[in-house]
Amino acid sequence: MIRREEIIGDCRLILGDCLEVLPLLGGGMAVVSDPPYGIAFAHGGNDNSGIGGGRYATKFAKVAIEGDDRPFDPLPLTSVGSDCILWGANHFADRLPASSSWLIWDKRAASGHTNDFADCEMAWTNLQNVARVFRHHWDGMMKASERGVSRVHPTQKPIVLMEWCIGMVDQEATILDPYMGSGTTGVACAKLGRKFIGIEIDEDYFNIACERIRKAYAQPDMFIEPRAPEPKQEALL
Ligand SMILES: C[S@@+](CC[C@H](N)C(=O)[O-])C[C@H]1O[C@@H](n2cnc3c(N)ncnc32)[C@H](O)[C@@H]1O
Repeated sequence: MIRREEIIGDCRLILGDCLEVLPLLGGGMAVVSDPPYGIAFAHGGNDNSGIGGGRYATKFAKVAIEGDDRPFDPLPLTSVGSDCILWGANHFADRLPASSSWLIWDKRAASGHTNDFADCEMAWTNLQNVARVFRHHWDGMMKASERGVSRVHPTQKPIVLMEWCIGMVDQEATILDPYMGSGTTGVACAKLGRKFIGIEIDEDYFNIACERIRKAYAQPDMFIEPRAPEPKQEALL
């Protein structure tokens, strides 16, 4: 059921449960998403998160994510569009087909220095491509982009990461993020001039996503000051 809908530029934002909304949508879409991982994730809040508490605790400590308390089933997403990119898929890889085109986001500083946080995040894709690495430092307050802009979601992704993903899928497709969170994929679409459909079940995050996407249209450069270094990518053999 669609509880609310906002149209902002070329973005259609839907408040609701994506499992109920997906059958109502048309075709011509590519999925670029970061769904709940099914690991009862809470920053610094439990042993499953892979993230320490103590000096690494954040303002999101103990903030739970809707749907994260049960195993995630990716199959409804893999059949929605032609292309599909799913972040966090290392947590539910056993429920996905084999793929040669995984994406790795290396979050460490250029020094390769490691800490209690995960060194990288992984995305499953159905793209007919080689595996790729995206290097972009993102570690609490230490970020290669969006410096001085506070995070508003516990698993918020960098806008440049989602721009990188969008560059890999069908360039004619509408980008669909059924687990939109704070709307990072939509912000990336607004900046790239791509059509976007986002679905979010939590009204607070839905409102945040609307606000961020509105701002992205009004001030296209606001999230990239000071300008981030060009991300580097390289092929894995
Ligand atoms: C991992 S977070 C996405 C964060 C996002 N990448 C960002 O940068 O903000 C997953 C989001 O999916 C939402 N969610 C969980 N179950 C959902 C469902 N059935 N339908 C729509 N949204 C859902 C959660 O509320 C959460 O905000």
